[in-house]
Order: sequence, then C-alpha cells, then structure tokens
Amino acid sequence: MGKTPFAINVEKGKDYYWCTCGKSATEPFCNGAHKGSGLSPKKFTATETKTLYFCGCKQTKGAPFCDGAHKSIK
Ligand code: FES
Repeated sequence: MGKTPFAINVEKGKDYYWCTCGKSATEPFCNGAHKGSGLSPKKFTATETKTLYFCGCKQTKGAPFCDGAHKSIK
C-alpha cells in the first residue's frame, strides 16, 4: 500500500474496482486479496476518458479518489 495517489487513465464506460483493503498487489485496484478480511472493493464506472487520481493510502473520505488525506499520514 502506497501513501500517494495513483494516476490512472480511465476509459469511458469501463468498470474499475478500487481496493479498499490495502492488500492488493495490483493497487489501486482489487486483485481478490481481500478474501477473508470482510472488506470488498468499491466499484467505479468511468463516465469519461481521462486521468483520475485513485487513493493509495485508503484514508480518503472521497473513495475511490484521493482527497489529500495522505498528507496527514506520518
Ligand atoms: S484486494 Fe483489496 S479490496 Fe480486493
């Protein structure tokens, strides 16, 4: 799990599953590693093709996107 956001080029109409557990080897997206943790990924469907910043620290209040919360992590 990183502390800084991931810049991802998303495609309009495509679904993305943001990892909420922090165990994924394919961050910021789910790879199934959450099994047994009680957590599940958060689905996001892109409404346009553009670069978005997905949260890497899992502290964001605007999941799945970075809200700057990583700046307060020590
Ligand atoms: S691997 Fe983290 S939510 Fe699926």
